[in-house]
Amino acid sequence: MDPDRPMATLESGAADTFAGTARVPGDKSISHRALILAALAVGRTTITGLLESADTRATADALRAFGAALDRREKGVWTVAGVGVGGLAEPETVIDFGNSGTAARLLLGAAASHPITCFMTGDASLRGRPMGRVIAPARMVGAEIVARAGGRLPLAVTGAEDAVPIVYEPPVASAQVKSAVLLAGLNAPGRTVVVEKRPTRDHTELMLRHFGVDVAVEERRGERVVTVAGHPEIEARPVEVPGDFSSAAFLGVAALLVPGARVRVPGVGLNPTRTGLLDCLAEMGAEIEVDRRRRAAGEPVADLTFHGGPPGALSGIEVAADRAPRMIDEYPVLAMAAAAASGTTRMHGLGELRVKESDRLAALASGLAAAGAGAEIDGETLSVAGRGGPVPGGARLDCGLDHRIAMSFLVLGLAAEAPIAVTGAETIATSFPGFARTMNRLGARIREAGRDG
Ligand code: S3P
Repeated sequence: MDPDRPMATLESGAADTFAGTARVPGDKSISHRALILAALAVGRTTITGLLESADTRATADALRAFGAALDRREKGVWTVAGVGVGGLAEPETVIDFGNSGTAARLLLGAAASHPITCFMTGDASLRGRPMGRVIAPARMVGAEIVARAGGRLPLAVTGAEDAVPIVYEPPVASAQVKSAVLLAGLNAPGRTVVVEKRPTRDHTELMLRHFGVDVAVEERRGERVVTVAGHPEIEARPVEVPGDFSSAAFLGVAALLVPGARVRVPGVGLNPTRTGLLDCLAEMGAEIEVDRRRRAAGEPVADLTFHGGPPGALSGIEVAADRAPRMIDEYPVLAMAAAAASGTTRMHGLGELRVKESDRLAALASGLAAAGAGAEIDGETLSVAGRGGPVPGGARLDCGLDHRIAMSFLVLGLAAEAPIAVTGAETIATSFPGFARTMNRLGARIREAGRDG
């Protein structure tokens, strides 16, 4: 039985113990950026620790279609021979980004400043997600774009012959939009500037610097201003991708929900623009150790150890809206911790959760209700009434092509009186291949419960 096999309905039941050391796959955001910048570099880059998942494969395949040469040497070790800034070739066929919003948006940005035409699509989830947020700045750069109603995929982009460097203030806090604009700016003359009202993850800035590109970051009147000078020569450099904090979050919260658990996750990326969840869990009273702090490819890295307390040990908290950009992907798993905590947790400013791989706000509220935990949406606020211990469980949910919804409810199964089943769980492979195996090695009971397909 392989619970990570395709087309799985997985069921997760209460765990008696949850302990040990487990590595998580490479960081998804950093893996996309390592591949993209290596493909725009001059020379050959070796990447180690690369996340090999459906999402990063979509980026790798797209970059091959744009003319870069990518080779897998061994697990997580890839070499990329870049085409140089301005060297993207016209893909011969439609690029399919699968489930990956990051791949689609970043590469639309890169293509916008190249005089080539390409056609882009994705799976049912991605075809429903807004691309207008990157189409607008790409048009300012000079690209012509024809998209479906509402700025949805599939779309066709003809990049600018003479790209214009722009100054752009994204209307939503989005690292993908910022990154798309910066990547477009690499092949425009002069300076491209992104002004962020609320700082988002800065992996693109750090990776550009790692590859020798001059990126200025200034704080001005509470705004974060990022400037990149066009037409740099990107130099091939080795890249070591740290473990994905967003994947470690599932193991960590699972540990917090099992009394007496102790789980160590070595080599996790701890970029402060990503770790809002650690602040929330500390406020809830969780015991988490951070040690062996170091750096990899310009990114902070450390080992994390999570300790499970008695049932209901965590307390409900109020999570302010301004924390959202630092933990946008972690609300689903925080909501699971909140369901088993004592007291109510209110999370504010969650509008962006409606346009992730699924409408996560709706998926969390309905999934938690089905699992017997009280959850309510009021505007952009999600309130979860904690059970002060295990939830009743006994639910069967469809994760709607959303890996984080799938993993979150499987984590909640560890603290459920009756098992929680998730259909469509194969989508977990977009970010965390081997999730069920890793969880089960630590003591989880995640097993296949029938087939979808
Ligand atoms: C990502 C940015 C975030 C995040 C996504 C990855 C990135 O999206 O939710 O999982 O790698 O830039 P937004 O930019 O839409 O907030």
